[in-house]
Amino acid sequence: MISIIVATDENLLIGQKDSKTGLPWNVPEDLKHFKATTLNQTILMGLTTYKAIGRPLPNRHTIVVADVPFEDERVEVRDSLTDVLNEYKNSDQTLYICGGASIYRQCLGVADELLLSRIPGTHTGETYFPDFSVYGYQLVETKPFETFTLEIYRRS
Ligand SMILES: NC(=O)c1ccc[n+]([C@@H]2O[C@H](COP(=O)([O-])OP(=O)(O)OC[C@H]3O[C@@H](n4cnc5c(N)ncnc54)[C@H](OP(=O)(O)O)[C@@H]3O)[C@@H](O)[C@H]2O)c1
Repeated sequence: MISIIVATDENLLIGQKDSKTGLPWNVPEDLKHFKATTLNQTILMGLTTYKAIGRPLPNRHTIVVADVPFEDERVEVRDSLTDVLNEYKNSDQTLYICGGASIYRQCLGVADELLLSRIPGTHTGETYFPDFSVYGYQLVETKPFETFTLEIYRRS
């Protein structure tokens, strides 16, 4: 199964280059939710996002997709996103897609689930999550947290 996990503001903003973390906001409760969801699981991210985080996240198997030669023995580096998606599409194990925008764009037509943390308001940045209305995702659940709302979408 393939699950996309993302935090966006009300305009689908996801990234700010100049910020310390690459994120346009500081919402610890959402990071806690991200950690609880992905702990001891397999996560996949693009090289830009991996470099923005700056290190592998502990206690997760991390796959980094890179078009250019990249070596880091702490993570699994892959040059074909399609191959990884094919490996997990019909697997019992969930692959969590953690961004960024270019990776999300390529996974939206393949993923089974979208876990979207909606951060209130509009923020400053330059990277946006794609318009996902054309991919057939249905909102199945909304979970209010104190500082954001988790929207759970599924598609079949
Ligand atoms: N709010 C959130 O939840 C969230 C989550 C994650 C990231 N972000 C933010 O999003 C921003 C980064 O997004 P981004 O779109 O610039 O970068 P990205 O998707 O993280 O990474 C792009 C990298 O992945 C490589 N890549 C992409 N598709 C590939 C494929 N099919 N095969 C092999 N390599 C591939 C690209 O190589 P080429 O360029 O050579 O093609 C590039 O090096 C950052 O600001 C980050 O903080 C936010």
